[in-house]
Amino acid sequence: MQPTAGRIIPVVVIRNADRAEALGEALVAGGVPVAEVTFRTAAAPEAIRRMATNSNLLVGAGTVLTPDQVDQAVDAGASFIVSPGFSQAVVLRAQHHGLPVYPGAVTPTEIMAALDLGLTTLKFFPADVYGGPAALRALGAPFGQVQFIPTGGVSASNLADYLALPNVAAVGGSWMVPAAAIEAGDAETIKRLCAEAAGFVAAAVKVA
Ligand code: 3PG
Repeated sequence: MQPTAGRIIPVVVIRNADRAEALGEALVAGGVPVAEVTFRTAAAPEAIRRMATNSNLLVGAGTVLTPDQVDQAVDAGASFIVSPGFSQAVVLRAQHHGLPVYPGAVTPTEIMAALDLGLTTLKFFPADVYGGPAALRALGAPFGQVQFIPTGGVSASNLADYLALPNVAAVGGSWMVPAAAIEAGDAETIKRLCAEAAGFVAAAVKVA
């Protein structure tokens, strides 16, 4: 399964790996069975390791900035790699491991560098700052073969604008996995926010 299948990817910042299993269960129960666990915390590899034992959940690594972090993510059992920007070294290492990789690319030059490495699904981050839906629409003209995952400033209130675009594979965001709720082990809140988000996605996809 691809992380874009459900058209929404929670971006997770987790400080305590002991919260990982419950978080994974909350995501599944909320109908969003995928997680991009960011390497912004030291707990990320262990959290990925624990969440990857849940066979109903697709777990990847995010904020991967170096080839060494790719190796750590692979070792922990990550199923995909996400990077905020385009690093050839990161992409090549992920490809070496045979893992899907979604680097960030917001300019035509970055997109072409990614195409050179055979990539056609790219993160678009921070989506709100780099022009939002209007920018993605414009990039669709020269890059008809590219699908984007806009992330950064995406929320329940604007995800429909993104998902309506033919070149948006999925949206990413942290609003359904607030760090405070993860920290507090508040699975109910995460489950509720995920279910809400999944509902908005379903409605947006039906309208589009
Ligand atoms: C990411 O790395 O994808 C972002 O930090 C998520 O952006 P958001 O917090 O605005 O959803």
